Amino acid sequence: MNFSILIQILALQCLAVVCVSREFDFYYFVQQWPASYCDTKRSCCYPKTGKPAEDFSIHGLWPNYRDGTYPANCDSVNLFNDSKITDLESRLEKDWPSLACPSSDGMRFWGHEWDKHGTCSESFLDQHSYFKAALDLKNKANLLQALNNAGIKPADGKYYSLESIKDAIKEATGYTPYIDCNVDASRKYHQLYQVYMCVEASGSEFINCPLLPHGRSCTSQVEFPSFSHIKPAHQEL
Ligand SMILES: *[C@@H]1O[C@H](CO)[C@@H](O)[C@H](O)[C@H]1NC(C)=O
Repeated sequence: MNFSILIQILALQCLAVVCVSREFDFYYFVQQWPASYCDTKRSCCYPKTGKPAEDFSIHGLWPNYRDGTYPANCDSVNLFNDSKITDLESRLEKDWPSLACPSSDGMRFWGHEWDKHGTCSESFLDQHSYFKAALDLKNKANLLQALNNAGIKPADGKYYSLESIKDAIKEATGYTPYIDCNVDASRKYHQLYQVYMCVEASGSEFINCPLLPHGRSCTSQVEFPSFSHIKPAHQEL
């Protein structure tokens, strides 16, 4: 192949990439298990609105590319504005609480998620639609119910196979999730920490994941710890 043809082919490929380039390809919708967030060396702080319910909570809805990279901080003009989501606040406090320290009312967490991730899918979802889409996806997935139906209930010192957890979620939602584990404060036990599901660009339908995320791996048996006895280490009121 001579050099000029090679250049032409490269140029065409670049053009093709530009032509089909999209803002992003799909979302990771990530939910976390609060007891596993709290039962670590770092511990946690309950939100100012009080201890969250024993249920999965939203971590984020993250635009992603099929090659595993993702866009971030896409619009420095349209930053988080809490007056756009006042009607969603009680749902956000319940389903998207912040367990980070120091205690907060969630605004900082939501603001971070919007500024870093939400601004990268603005042509599909404006700020209000973005938060509403995530809340609706959580209801639709209903992970706690999915696990309950399969007899997988939060309990300390009890282990479930990773496969049975994935199967239960697939059975209930139609899609196999990716499970991310962390280790408890004793650094001995792997526990169910985050559940990743994939969502198409309009933010309403689950899809099969085009690509698995980079997460921490799980052992084949994992704990699904109870949140009832968890005490935050540094409660700041
Ligand atoms: C925040 O949103 C409200 C309601 O849409 C709007 O009136 C206000 O100007 C916005 N504030 C900023 C700083 O953009």
